[in-house]
Amino acid sequence: MRTLTVELPGGAYEIRIGDGLLAELGAMLLPFHGEETPVVVVTDENVWSHYRAPLAASLAAAGIAFVPAVCPPGETNKSMDGLERLYDVFAKAGLPRGGLVVAFGGGVVGDLAGFAAATWMRGVQLVQVPTTLLAQVDSSVGGKTAVNHAHGKNLIGAFYQPKLVVVDPETLRTLPAREVRGGMAEVIKYGAIRSKSLFDTLDGDMKPAALAEIIEACCRIKSEIVVRDERDFGERMLLNFGHTFGHAIERRHGFGHYTHGEAVAFGMVVAARLGERLALTQPGAADALRRLLARHRLAPDYPEPPVVLAPAMASDKKSGGRGVRLVLLRRIGEAFTQEMRFDDIEAALALLGAAPQVFSQ
Ligand SMILES: NC(=O)c1ccc[n+]([C@@H]2O[C@H](COP(=O)([O-])OP(=O)(O)OC[C@H]3O[C@@H](n4cnc5c(N)ncnc54)[C@H](O)[C@@H]3O)[C@@H](O)[C@H]2O)c1
Ligand SMILES: [Zn+2]
Repeated sequence: MRTLTVELPGGAYEIRIGDGLLAELGAMLLPFHGEETPVVVVTDENVWSHYRAPLAASLAAAGIAFVPAVCPPGETNKSMDGLERLYDVFAKAGLPRGGLVVAFGGGVVGDLAGFAAATWMRGVQLVQVPTTLLAQVDSSVGGKTAVNHAHGKNLIGAFYQPKLVVVDPETLRTLPAREVRGGMAEVIKYGAIRSKSLFDTLDGDMKPAALAEIIEACCRIKSEIVVRDERDFGERMLLNFGHTFGHAIERRHGFGHYTHGEAVAFGMVVAARLGERLALTQPGAADALRRLLARHRLAPDYPEPPVVLAPAMASDKKSGGRGVRLVLLRRIGEAFTQEMRFDDIEAALALLGAAPQVFSQ
């Protein structure tokens, strides 16, 4: 088992990573489980259909009784309605102030259950057990929780750190291939912004056993950044590499056409090409990224000329002004942010033209 400790001012917690850890989850929950306090396990129908038996066995072995809250799968459940339904389960279960919520699923379950835990009785204990690659390397770490609102994604939320994160990479065996690829885009992002050695590992002959090591490397990078900038005012912004353009792509095509990971993959390449064009990024970085993305079966090149993304960027409500803080690469393994006006971004994007020539793999 690999263990990372996230040391935050509000308290420290561990991220434990290892194949087969689901079987030990019950024992790991014991320190957070008072005699009389019920545990609510929040999950979705897909995860439940695969892991109901091992999860129940793991908790039973530790003598922990639990109430399952099984949500429909998908982003639409990360809503006020979904939240209301969870509160109903909490109320029926008699979940008290010292109670424990286990978020067992992907980022949707983690964000929804996390926000419910943050707000029920002004905050009950939360343990994250992420089951998608995206959740294992990204959403379960860092304490952001949220639900969506008709006016936008993640508009209602809280920073709320878990007591523990338990990552069992074996749960990824049942994850649909497209979801795995999407998570890989975020994994590649960590290499691009912070770790040339992770980038190189991903470019090597990866054995399945290497997955735990890769997840650990990503969680380490994210937690180091979060420790220095828990509330997302500075360095945490680097984690948005590829996301400004990625969100514009998601918005332009309607959410769901491309997965988040697919859009981020395109977005990272656009950002790297833009950086090269502005002589801010080491030449060759964009091609290295494109090669690595293709190697992990992600299409690297957005099929339209990137300048078409400019209107969608400017309409991003989050930007709120005439420009945006873009994350660019200095080189593979090092990122920085640069304030840029939309006009300048549009002019630079116009110089990029359509997808570049085919590269050799
Ligand atoms: N809090 C954060 O810091 C943060 C960061 C990034 C993303 N997010 C959020 O995460 C969400 C996306 O998360 P996601 O990509 O994990 O999506 P998801 O939770 O919808 O999971 C994707 C699909 O995989 C299924 N699934 C999950 N685990 C499985 C398993 N082991 N085997 C088989 N199927 C499984 C789910 O039922 C779902 O259909 C978005 O709402 C996004 O806003 C949050
Ligand atoms: Zn992302």
